[in-house]
Amino acid sequence: MSNFTIHDFLRKKTNGGKISMITAYDYPFARIVDEAGIDAILVGDSLGMVVQGLENTLPVTMDEMIYHTKMVARGVKNAMIIGDMPFMSYQTGIAEALKNAGRFLKDAGAAAVKMEGGGEIAEQIRAMTRSDIPVMAHIGLTPQSIHRMGGYKVQGKTEESAKRLLEEAHIVEDAGAFSLLLEAIPMDLAKTITGELSIPTIGIGAGPHCDGQVLVLHDVIGLFERFIPKFVKKYADLKKDALNAVKTYRDEVKNGTFPSDDQSFK
Ligand code: KIV
Repeated sequence: MSNFTIHDFLRKKTNGGKISMITAYDYPFARIVDEAGIDAILVGDSLGMVVQGLENTLPVTMDEMIYHTKMVARGVKNAMIIGDMPFMSYQTGIAEALKNAGRFLKDAGAAAVKMEGGGEIAEQIRAMTRSDIPVMAHIGLTPQSIHRMGGYKVQGKTEESAKRLLEEAHIVEDAGAFSLLLEAIPMDLAKTITGELSIPTIGIGAGPHCDGQVLVLHDVIGLFERFIPKFVKKYADLKKDALNAVKTYRDEVKNGTFPSDDQSFK
């Protein structure tokens, strides 16, 4: 079992100290992220875009999420693993949602699940919490609602939508969520929500006042370049490094300098 738990999430909210969270989708990157001392790993359905090369996250399946979460779990010693419920794995009814959430804990090694939505998933949150499946809710820009939202747009910019998001935040807290992810909302709104809730908020594009931050790993290390949201900070350029490495290998194969004696048996 991982060392960081939902109790540490809540403790950080009470005692101060930010929660660090990032996505990972496989064993080698899970090892890196865990070794770096990240508190929580989200096996996000963003894997549909950054690993599978899909246009959006909608086609990602439960079986794929379980497959990736298992790989992550094998690489992790300390971080808490949160499995992301994919589109249509929880919207279709409480029993189905419960069964799918349970798979993350039972089959894949996650300690919690994340679901996109507010009031409309309150019943699912309640049922999961009752069954000892901790839930992180996710409001603001919810990528699974891309068609309703008409694209990946900042949410909560009008007074009315900000009020609605604040209400949603209270609803998911009351339903039993242990934490709330806020995506792409104005930082003042995130500050208000963070101040009013007793559960910790995790921001992505929600400014510095949240109790923690999450980013998509492939954005952070420069492995996804199709589009880069304003809220992303790129800390490395692995695409460039990998490209250079493979090009050098190709050149050395072609000109006969690889393999040398060092890589050969006598
Ligand atoms: O799927 C994901 O990686 C997410 C992040 C954008 C938070 O939900």
